[in-house]
Amino acid sequence: MSTVLVTGATGFVGGAVARALLAAGHRVVAWVRSPAKARALAGQGARVAAGDMRDPATYLPLVDEVDAVVHAAQLRVTGRLGPGKIRLLHQANHVMTDALARRCMSAGKRLLYTGGCFVYGDHGDDWIDESTPLTPSPLGEGDANEIARLRDRHEAGLDVVVLSPGFVYGPGGNFTTLFYDDARRDRLRCIGRGRNYWSCVHVDDLAEAYVLALTRAPAGATYNIVDDEPLRLREFVDLLADAVGGVAVRPVPAFLARLVAGAPAVTSLTSSYRVNNTKARRDLGWAPSYPTARDGIPPTLSALKRLESAASTAS
Ligand SMILES: NC(=O)c1ccc[n+]([C@@H]2O[C@H](COP(=O)([O-])OP(=O)(O)OC[C@H]3O[C@@H](n4cnc5c(N)ncnc54)[C@H](OP(=O)(O)O)[C@@H]3O)[C@@H](O)[C@H]2O)c1
Repeated sequence: MSTVLVTGATGFVGGAVARALLAAGHRVVAWVRSPAKARALAGQGARVAAGDMRDPATYLPLVDEVDAVVHAAQLRVTGRLGPGKIRLLHQANHVMTDALARRCMSAGKRLLYTGGCFVYGDHGDDWIDESTPLTPSPLGEGDANEIARLRDRHEAGLDVVVLSPGFVYGPGGNFTTLFYDDARRDRLRCIGRGRNYWSCVHVDDLAEAYVLALTRAPAGATYNIVDDEPLRLREFVDLLADAVGGVAVRPVPAFLARLVAGAPAVTSLTSSYRVNNTKARRDLGWAPSYPTARDGIPPTLSALKRLESAASTAS
């Protein structure tokens, strides 16, 4: 059993990874920005530590106390994602990734880095696998730069594994606040015709991939963590609206979406990511319990409804 530092452990991805590691019998140091949000994790046995991504002194000493690090923190920004905010996101991630990579390298610890499918950029109807060159969409530029640096550091001895999830859905995170809540209010929109592919993964399946990669991935490896069936954006939003029982999703032209969400976000969301998961299945023995969002969305909505009724009973 290992002791693992999980950054961003109150987040959608980091929280699921921390819970999955605990369930698999590992010890977890949950590094968070807001300890009050980590009470449930502490109750499940995690040790909680707090800090800020932009201040390495708040997390570097912890690296020496663990066997491996999962990096899943991401600077919290809200509203329209213009170039200035994206720069802040990338800068914060660079500070943290660079500091963690140096310390992991000098201390001989494994670093599991969270990338994303935005690093590949638009590939139309072509399939993407781990050998596809990184020609990122705007929101993937920061991760693509970090991954290139991590690959160089691996050549110099860093034990690093990169996991690149597709669009993560499940009860929580951006899926709830940006998709589910809008679908329930009949406010979900499809940008353009939605012919571009999205590769999705349920958050619990993603978390399981981290648990497996901790011990099974060879140093220096990269894995795309996506389910078996990329869906066109139009299919995905229709699937969600149907499951919620809402009205038909209306299209919104890209130029209008850019005004609301910012051009980099719209370009990234309307690019096409038809991603293959053969390598993770083969090397890690990973098998998503929800092979397609068609299987994973209904239980996700049931889980969200249970959470809502528990919250209303408590209040
Ligand atoms: N969600 C997806 O669909 C998806 C897809 C592909 C890749 N990813 C990648 O997965 C990673 C995590 O994403 P996520 O969806 O889990 O994001 P998230 O839910 O927003 O979680 C981000 C985490 O980082 C913490 N954080 C925010 N600002 C911080 C700061 N200044 N200092 C320290 N911690 C800070 C948050 O703390 P608070 O809870 O206190 O805000 C939270 O724990 C990111 O690298 C993202 O690019 C996500």
